Amino acid sequence: MDIIGLGYMGFEATDLDAWRDYGPAVMGFAIGQNPEGDPDSLYFRMDDRRHRLAFHPGKVDRLAYLGWEAKGRMEFKAACRKFTDAGVDFTVGDAELCEKRGVKELIRFFDPVGFRHELFYGQKWLPDSFVPGRRHGGYLAGRRGLGHVVLMTPEFPPELEDFLINIMGFHWYGSGAGKGKTGFFRSRLNTFTSHDIAYGHAPGRMGIQHVGLFVGSLRDVGETYDIVKKRELQMMMTLGQHSQDPHISFYHFNPSGFAFECIAESEPWHDDGFELNPEKMSVWGHELVGPILGPSVKTPEEVGDPEFKAKKG
Ligand SMILES: [Fe+2]
Repeated sequence: MDIIGLGYMGFEATDLDAWRDYGPAVMGFAIGQNPEGDPDSLYFRMDDRRHRLAFHPGKVDRLAYLGWEAKGRMEFKAACRKFTDAGVDFTVGDAELCEKRGVKELIRFFDPVGFRHELFYGQKWLPDSFVPGRRHGGYLAGRRGLGHVVLMTPEFPPELEDFLINIMGFHWYGSGAGKGKTGFFRSRLNTFTSHDIAYGHAPGRMGIQHVGLFVGSLRDVGETYDIVKKRELQMMMTLGQHSQDPHISFYHFNPSGFAFECIAESEPWHDDGFELNPEKMSVWGHELVGPILGPSVKTPEEVGDPEFKAKKG
C-alpha cells in the first residue's frame, strides 16, 4: 500500500478549553477553521494543511482515529482493492465526513486490536498559509506525515503484525529498546523517519502512550522545553538523544493525558541496513521523571471504540 505516513489524527477530549490555550501557547499550533457542520471540535494546524490534529468533545480522553495518507487517487483505489481482496471490512466515508476531514475520499476500518484507522488522499492545503500560535520554526510534516504514534494494546496477536505488514504494507523497523513486546513500523513510502507507528503490549490497558512530532530545529525543542518547565507541566522524560533514531527530544504530558515527544533530528534518518538492537533506549538524557503511561491509557472498556466492541460482541 503506497502510504506516505500519518496525515491527520483525531481524538476525543474532555477539556477543549485547556487544549485551546495549550495548543498555540505551548506547542505553537495554529487554530484551524472549523468545517461546516462541526462547530464544537477544535482543529489544529501544524503546517500548510487544513489541519493535522482534531479534538472532538468526548466523555473520556481517547484516540478516535488515525488518518493514513495514500499518495494519491490511484494509490487509494489500489488500497481499497487490496482491502476487498483480503476480506478486510471497511466503510466508505460520505461527502460530509470527507468535508470534515478536508480530503477527497476516505475509508474507515479497524486494526485487529480495535484502533480505528482511516485512509485518505488529497487533504486541503494552501502554500505559505501556516502562522504558528507563537514564535515557532514550524513542523516537518509534509512528505513524511505528521509524526509517529505509540499505542498500548491490550492484546498483541499475530494477526496484528500480519495486518500491519501484509495489508497496510508497512516495513518492520524493530522492537525498540523498551521492555516487553513492542513493534515499530514504517509506512511503505516513508524514507524520512524510522517509524510511523508502534504498538506496545500492555495487558488490560489501551490507549496512546505518546505522539512524536518533528520540529525544524533544535531551538524549537528547547523553547518548548522552557515553556513546559515554566508552566510546570508534567514531564515524562527530560531532554535526551535516542539510540535507535537520530532524535533529540523530550516528553511531556498534554491536556488529554498522553505525551507529546517534541523532536529535532540530529542528522537525517537513514536506514542502517540491518535490524537495530539497542543496548539502551538513549545515549544521554531522557531521564524518566514521570509516569511512562499517562492517564489516557485506560482499560479497553473505558477507551475502546464502541463500534469495534459491538462488532466483536
Ligand atoms: Fe517517539
